[in-house]
Amino acid sequence: MMSHLDFVKNLRPDRNLGMELVRATEAAAISARHFIGKGDKNAADGAAVDAMRAFLSTVDMQGVIVIGEGEKDDAPMLYNGEQVGSGQGPMCDIAVDPIDGTSLTAAGRQNALSVIAVADRGSMLDASTVFYMDKLVAGEEARGVLDIRLPIAENIRLLAKAKGKPVDEMVIAVLDRPRHAGLIEDIRAAGAATRLMLDGDVAGGINAAMYGTRIDMCVGTGGSPEGIVTTCAIKALGGFIQGMLAPKDEEEAARGIAAGLKMNYVYSADELVTSDNTLFVATGVTDGGLVQGVRRKGPIIRTDSIILRSASGTIRRIQSDYSAERWG
Ligand code: FBP
Repeated sequence: MMSHLDFVKNLRPDRNLGMELVRATEAAAISARHFIGKGDKNAADGAAVDAMRAFLSTVDMQGVIVIGEGEKDDAPMLYNGEQVGSGQGPMCDIAVDPIDGTSLTAAGRQNALSVIAVADRGSMLDASTVFYMDKLVAGEEARGVLDIRLPIAENIRLLAKAKGKPVDEMVIAVLDRPRHAGLIEDIRAAGAATRLMLDGDVAGGINAAMYGTRIDMCVGTGGSPEGIVTTCAIKALGGFIQGMLAPKDEEEAARGIAAGLKMNYVYSADELVTSDNTLFVATGVTDGGLVQGVRRKGPIIRTDSIILRSASGTIRRIQSDYSAERWG
């Protein structure tokens, strides 16, 4: 094994775009702060979008929004296809979710995040024609072991074995939705425990893949865009994700097929995002298992963020204190 000194001598550190992009998720979270628990999710989202956009423009990159706030006419800013960044620097695909958990934010509930994910240009699957995706997310032990087509009880058993823990110690995160009633029943019948999430399956997926959390696996149907965002994080963490598009009817399936998407098909992490050069940046809007929410403490507004970068495998946590006089 290379000694530490040799390792350092051979280092060729490059730029970590995440260190700059985190300013955009911080600003989005700070702007959303005024709307936490105030019952208006669109106002919260709008404030986060405005702030995120202002900061994205400062970053040296040639970014194209692949996953944004929707189509140009419905979303004046951060729409799919919009060019962002200074126009210089790396060419990349950008996925933004100024708030993942807009309803959580409006209700003042936990687990809302502001998120930006980045990958090399042309590498993110544009799944925008099909709203929902079935997902299976876990840590590195799951690679080559799990398969989204297997019954959940079998996947739980396989992952428990790979992790060397009893099935009754396994904790599975699922969005709390009527569509998941059968899935939830099956998880419990298998002997595992559920962690039911009100919203926000990006955080759920990351918690499943990250070392040292209580979640072993995140399963169920959630947004397709969130599936791509999660994949950028999972690739940086070295975890496991599979996705299957879940069109709500024949019409949506046909639209997806016309856009080049595959139905009844298991997308691997490498098909959801073909590049291995990914970044994931998130700042807490409300408190959660991944990061704490934005909060005022006397003269400061404090944010907690996380930056995951596949090129280095580094998990970086950043706490920032902003002047409340300026930002309040
Ligand atoms: P929003 O912030 O856009 O409301 O998304 C929250 C979310 O919970 C996602 O994390 C998840 O993928 C999706 O909604 C699930 O969709 P639905 O609420 O329709 O079940």
